[in-house]
Amino acid sequence: MFPIIKLVLTTIALAMVNNSCVGVSEENDPFEGLKEEYEIAFKYLPIDLQQDAKLLVPDLIKKYDYPIEIHTIQSKDGYILEIHRIPYGKQDLSDNRTAVYLQHGILASSADWVLPGPGKGFGYILADAGYDVWMPNVRGNRYSRKHIKLDPLKDAKEFWDFSWHEIAIDDVPTIVDYIREQTGQDKFFYIGHSQGTTLSYVMLSEKEDYNDQFKAIFSLAPIAYMGRMTSPILQVISMFSDNLEPIFNKLGMHEFLPRTDFLAKVGEKFCGDTSAFQILCINSLFAVSGFNRKQMNSTLVPVIMGHTPAGSSSKQLIHYAQGIISGKFRQWDYGSIGNLRNYGSLAPPKYKLENVKVPVYIYYSQNDWLSNTNDVDKLANELRNVQGRFLIADSRFSHVDYVYGIEAPQLVYYEILDIMEKH
Ligand SMILES: *[C@@H]1O[C@H](CO)[C@@H](O)[C@H](O)[C@H]1NC(C)=O
Ligand SMILES: *[C@@H]1O[C@H](CO)[C@@H](O)[C@H](O)[C@H]1NC(C)=O
Ligand SMILES: *[C@@H]1O[C@H](CO)[C@@H](O)[C@H](O)[C@H]1NC(C)=O
Repeated sequence: MFPIIKLVLTTIALAMVNNSCVGVSEENDPFEGLKEEYEIAFKYLPIDLQQDAKLLVPDLIKKYDYPIEIHTIQSKDGYILEIHRIPYGKQDLSDNRTAVYLQHGILASSADWVLPGPGKGFGYILADAGYDVWMPNVRGNRYSRKHIKLDPLKDAKEFWDFSWHEIAIDDVPTIVDYIREQTGQDKFFYIGHSQGTTLSYVMLSEKEDYNDQFKAIFSLAPIAYMGRMTSPILQVISMFSDNLEPIFNKLGMHEFLPRTDFLAKVGEKFCGDTSAFQILCINSLFAVSGFNRKQMNSTLVPVIMGHTPAGSSSKQLIHYAQGIISGKFRQWDYGSIGNLRNYGSLAPPKYKLENVKVPVYIYYSQNDWLSNTNDVDKLANELRNVQGRFLIADSRFSHVDYVYGIEAPQLVYYEILDIMEKH
């Protein structure tokens, strides 16, 4: 493509995602109606669930009478990370419980493991099954939007200058070390969803020693290879990905905050009617990942909306978009010159998946915009020790159903508990 045409197209795309743009007046906003609909849905929500939508995760867990601890730790490069821990459940109060590290996905937070409530959220189910549940929040989300020196708004350029690579090689090992220290356990479980799986693969590829820290890793909707990803918003971003970063920088779009009307346009694909689900179209998480009506509990929708999106950097999305174009699982692409300077090679280095030697169990589905079955197969063939590859029985199961899906306990969680028992 001619550079000038590319620049024009990029500018148009940016105008669509540029959240700071003030051009659209409220009356012109075609999705104003949706927001109203959300307000109404929210107003008629039982008081109980209105609370759930607004409470921070520790207060939410307290409300349901589970023990909760807040741990604050610091990454090597100065990000302040908040971990939420449910040390035991309601049935078994023993203090000798195997730790489980639960890692949320992109635009999400520790809320994902508890939002559906006791008996349904994976965090509660694990605690009640006798595990010590650790739910960290990685840099940039609402619980970890802090740094010893940098301010997320005033120093936006530096604060948001990270992708999942930095999270994986700095935040995650720091968290793992901390859990080991606190529990005295040399080996525990890791369960990741979406970007949470990417983080485990990147960490173990780059820091092989950490293989020894885990009894097993469970990957829900794994993401490494992205060549066949079908998410419309990531497709749009990937069309422009090699031009985006410098322009994002110039415009100060370091945090990923796409405009509502743009999201709704992208979301038209799954928003054909006026049901309660329409509101999901203007939520950036669902615009990126899609959803499935059968598994989505409509009562829970306003609660989910209260907790997501929880924040991510633009670079996290762009790094995935680079993977869509290249079809490869590799480090950040600075362009040939930048790559030479940073890596000493024209192309970014690939992640060494052959270093991932810990037992891995993979859960994937046919209706996942982000985690395509062919991409997952390619990943599974390169990991050294895949002990199980499970296609979810519901063929419509979507990317977010692993955390919010009505049948997630039956289709995923209980199966994982059975396997954990054997390790
Ligand atoms: C993005 O928003 C900023 C602030 O309103 C504006 O100055 C800039 O021109 C916008 N960029 C594009 C490409 O629309
Ligand atoms: C604690 O759990 C470990 C296995 O996780 C077990 O080997 C040990 O005997 C337990 N200790 C007590 C005091 O229950
Ligand atoms: C939907 O969510 C509400 C609120 O958490 C809950 O009471 C209800 O049991 C859920 N329905 C299903 C089918 O899971």
